[in-house]
Amino acid sequence: VLAWFRRMRATEPVSHDEQAGVWHVFGSADVERILSDSATFSSEFSSLMPAQEDVDRFIKGNVLRKDPPQHRKLRNLASKAFTPRVVADLADRIDVIADELLDAMAGAPRVDLVADLAYPLPVIVIAQLLGIPPEDRPMFGRWADSLVAPESQTGFIPNAERTRAMAVVMREMNAYCLDHIRRRRAHPTDDLTSKLVAAELDGQRLDDEEIIGFVGLLLLAGHITTTALLSNVILCLDEHPEAAAALRADPAALPGAIEEVLRYRTPLAPSMRRTTRDVRIGEHTVPAGQIVLAWLASANRDERRFAEPDRFDIRRTPNPHLSFGHGIHFCLGAPLARLEVRIAMEKILARWSEISVGDGAEHHDARGIFGARRLPLDVRWA
Ligand code: HEM
Repeated sequence: VLAWFRRMRATEPVSHDEQAGVWHVFGSADVERILSDSATFSSEFSSLMPAQEDVDRFIKGNVLRKDPPQHRKLRNLASKAFTPRVVADLADRIDVIADELLDAMAGAPRVDLVADLAYPLPVIVIAQLLGIPPEDRPMFGRWADSLVAPESQTGFIPNAERTRAMAVVMREMNAYCLDHIRRRRAHPTDDLTSKLVAAELDGQRLDDEEIIGFVGLLLLAGHITTTALLSNVILCLDEHPEAAAALRADPAALPGAIEEVLRYRTPLAPSMRRTTRDVRIGEHTVPAGQIVLAWLASANRDERRFAEPDRFDIRRTPNPHLSFGHGIHFCLGAPLARLEVRIAMEKILARWSEISVGDGAEHHDARGIFGARRLPLDVRWA
C-alpha cells in the first residue's frame, strides 16, 4: 500500500475510483485542506445510508459524523467531561491494568501481543472510565468487533444488508447504554458517564441519545486504533533494531518514538468526507455529493512535508503527522492513546529484555487499519 501511495502522489494525487464510487486524495496539502474545510467536506453521511432507526439513534451523538453547528455543541460538552485532567488521572489505573495483563503472561517465552495486551488494555481502560462493570466488558468487546468489521474500516458507505446487521448490534448497545446512563442520572458516581450527564455549557446539556452515541463512539474509536498503534510500535522496533537499542538506552525518547510510529505506520489510514458542492482539488473538479477518502497514511509519507519520509527516525522534529486528523474533528482521544501506549511500552521495555516478532503475524487490510490483528512475539523476560 505504501508503494501505491508513492506512485499515486507522483502520478495521480487526486484520483477517481469509479468502481468503488470514491475519490482518493494522496498529497498532504490537499488532505489537510479537506480536513480544514468542513463546509465543503462534510462528515455527515446519513443521507447516503439506508434509513434505520437504531442506526440513527446510535449516530445522533457521534461527533465524528457531525458538521457544525451540531458538532460544536457535542464536542464542547464532551470535552468538558473528557478533559486532559480526566485522562492524566487515568495514568495510575492504566499502570495497574498493564501490570495485570503482563503478570498473566509472566515467564511465557511466546506471547501474542494483540490478544494478551494491545487489545484488552484500551478496552478495559475505556470500560472502566465509563463505569461499565467488569462482567459486562466481554459483551462490549463483541459489539465493538462486529461494528468495526473490515468493510467499515475502508471508509465506504455500508450497504443495506450491512446496515441491517449493524442495526441489530446497535439496538442492543443503545438499550444497554440507556440503562447505564439512567442509573447514573439517578445515582451519579465519578465516572465519565456521570460527567457526561452533568456537563453543561451555556445552559445546554447532552440528552440521553447524544450520550449513547458518544459512549458508543468512544468504545469503537478508542479500541482498534490504539491496539494497532501498540502493535505498530513493536513492529517498527523489530524492523529497526538500532532504534530499539537507542530507546532502551534513553527511555525519555519514547514519546518522540511513538509520534514517529504514528507517522510511519499510520493506524487509521483514510479519513472520509462527502462533498457539499462542486470543488476543485488539484487538477480535478469533484462534483457535489461525492465521497472523498483523504489518505492520512499517504500524507504522512509526503516528501513535500517530511525530509526523507521513508526513514524511521525516533528523534524526528518537528513531526507534523496527520495521524490524529486535523481541524475540528482532531482526535479527542489522542492524549489517552498516547498515555496508554507510553505506559505499556515502558513496562514492555522493562520486563522484556529481548523481543522478536515470531511467525504467524496477521495484519488488518492496510487500506483501512494499519496494524496487526495477531502478533506472536518471542520474548526474554528480564
Ligand atoms: C477522531 C485517530 C484513539 C476518540 C479521530 C480522527 C482520527 C483519529 C484520524 C479524525 C477522523 C476524521 O476527521 O475523520 C485515532 C488514532 C488513535 C485514536 C490513530 C490511536 C492511536 C482514540 C481514543 C479515543 C478516540 C483512545 C477515545 C477514547 C476519538 C473521537 C473522535 C476521534 C471521539 C471524534 C472527534 C470529533 O469528531 O470531534 N481519531 N484515534 N480516539 N477520536 Fe481518535
